[in-house]
Amino acid sequence: MCYAAAFRSDTETPVNAPVVGPGLVPAHIPRPQYVLAGRVTPPPKHPPCLDADLIARMRIAGRKARAVLEAVLAAVAPGVTTDDLDRVAMATCSALGVYPSPLGFHGYPRSICTSVNEVICHGIPGGRRLKAGDIINCDITVFTEGVHGDCSETVFVGSPDAESRRLVNATYEAMWAGIRTVRPGQRLDAIGRAITAVARRERMGNVLAFAGHGIGEWFHMPPDVSHGIDRHATLRLQAGMVFTIEPMFTLGDPRCVMLDDGWTAVTRDGRRSAQFEHTVLVTPTGFEVLTAGEPWFRRPATPSGG
Ligand code: MF3
Ligand code: CO
Ligand code: CO
Repeated sequence: MCYAAAFRSDTETPVNAPVVGPGLVPAHIPRPQYVLAGRVTPPPKHPPCLDADLIARMRIAGRKARAVLEAVLAAVAPGVTTDDLDRVAMATCSALGVYPSPLGFHGYPRSICTSVNEVICHGIPGGRRLKAGDIINCDITVFTEGVHGDCSETVFVGSPDAESRRLVNATYEAMWAGIRTVRPGQRLDAIGRAITAVARRERMGNVLAFAGHGIGEWFHMPPDVSHGIDRHATLRLQAGMVFTIEPMFTLGDPRCVMLDDGWTAVTRDGRRSAQFEHTVLVTPTGFEVLTAGEPWFRRPATPSGG
């Protein structure tokens, strides 16, 4: 289904699509600027160093993004549709009093991204029904305290094949290899170099069409965090900077095709892709993961298959 293509603004609903929009978020929950104004205000040109107050607010946003991710991943099971997962996210956001940042961001029509198998990122929840052997990335961003927190994990539906397990493991290890480079004085390109080394070692495709991003009062802001080798990313990290690290690996060709919904990025060869994402703060001594949690793909399987 191609909901986004028919979408013009937050107030319009595409024909034949379920009614989903910012209007379903309880009125007492503060909206981000782009929902109120209908367009995204330009972020600062350079990565800001957040003060203690903003950092405290980012910790809350990161924790709540993680809480929504936990609720969504707990609902993953064979037979569940990606729309079901979107509803779980919406309900959990409402219960926590946070706004689901994707909803209405550049016209995006749902609260989360759900990217199954060959979908690299930005899969729009819909009627796709999960089956045993699939892998799915759920990407959650929430807005609260005037700031955004962003995280994602790829999980197994039932027991996927060995190749898929290797893909998910390698992508998770790559995200952590990137995170471990983070400290004041480090060059920004160290992150992508560490991720590239894991991709080469594990013989995985490394998707370069999408990058991590600064995050805070804006959903996406400088710096761009390349997951490949970018000699021009000479920025020196400073304590107080906050950005995401969110590598995407593929079993085959890492090049993507955009579906005609304008959002869904799939692999050109149809083979599988995985992604993990954390929001990371540069601290005086290294890093702090603001969206930290035990990865679901390494937790013991539950009877429900989730
Ligand atoms: N959460 C995604 C990211 O990691 C962005 C999704 S944009 C949306 O940057 F509009 F598709 F939600
Ligand atoms: Co994200
Ligand atoms: Co992100």
